[in-house]
Amino acid sequence: MYCVKKNTPDNLQKILEFLLSGEAVSGEAISQKLGISRNAVWKNVQTLKNMGFHIEAERNVGYRLQGEKLPDKLYPYLIFPILSTKKLGNSIFWQEEIGSTNDKAGELAKEGAEEGTIILAEKQTKGRGRRGRAWESEESLGIYMSAILRPKRPLAEAAPYTFLGAYAVLRVLEQYGLKPQVKWPNDVFVGGRKISGVLAELSAIGPDIRHIVLGIGLNVNQTEFSPDIPGTSLKIELQMELCRRAVLAALLLHLEEGYEKLSQDVHWLIEIMKKYSILLGERVTVTGGVELEGIAEDIASDGALLVRVVENGEERVVKVWAGDVSVRKTEA
Ligand code: BTN
Repeated sequence: MYCVKKNTPDNLQKILEFLLSGEAVSGEAISQKLGISRNAVWKNVQTLKNMGFHIEAERNVGYRLQGEKLPDKLYPYLIFPILSTKKLGNSIFWQEEIGSTNDKAGELAKEGAEEGTIILAEKQTKGRGRRGRAWESEESLGIYMSAILRPKRPLAEAAPYTFLGAYAVLRVLEQYGLKPQVKWPNDVFVGGRKISGVLAELSAIGPDIRHIVLGIGLNVNQTEFSPDIPGTSLKIELQMELCRRAVLAALLLHLEEGYEKLSQDVHWLIEIMKKYSILLGERVTVTGGVELEGIAEDIASDGALLVRVVENGEERVVKVWAGDVSVRKTEA
């Protein structure tokens, strides 16, 4: 488990920075630059080796990182150098295996973690989706992350914040040349198969938002999915293995950009949700909470899905706030 701040690097990060230059660096030089003992340098180098970095100790020269292949992990130490956000991800909590990154984010948020803190795991044992479903989280294949946001907004304006995860994923997928679609509220599909899901969890203080945990699962290098949910991944769509760190850095950048824009205005995000919607204009079934069937007509400015239904011969528009929405197949 590592909990690291970008602007206050620890010794592990500083030593890795020396080594990432590709040059050999002596234990003596590191110890002098960092003001720590040779033994402390050695211990940090052992930690880096245990983390999967290939570091050779060359006689009379020093430590050298055999850099062709860095460990395929979302270590904050390897994210920071490629992350160009202002605030999001300045504090990263990483764990090899976790129950759910959303649960950890909720705990950290309650303890006062700063806005923009990111929680990452290589593997989740209790990855959660909406409506109590499980989220498959195979080790080091996908991105399983949660962001702690603290918008100063009333609870009544919270819904569009839950769209931010889908927005950031859309942007990343487009960057990779794909044509994604969103299923309200925030599932992302490519070619009719689910590639990402977002679980937004709110905490309130009186009528205001205390914090939002925005959990994003994005399939990156998976190649197999359970038969009940047709899934896909970046690797399947692009026919190549991707660097998850690069995908994550892009995701965080788009998330921050969307979050900043949302503090000014909400309409642009609603327009994007409409433009990329898989549902609008389709006959849909809504289950869980409200049960109804009708035509998905619009997304309201407060984020609700508007469904036109016919009841006892009368048409009316129902505002859907929660539930599972699926497109009804037309009968042959
Ligand atoms: C859904 O499809 O219903 C939402 C899936 C959300 C999965 C992500 S993975 C990271 C974060 N931690 C969780 O336990 N869930 C979210």
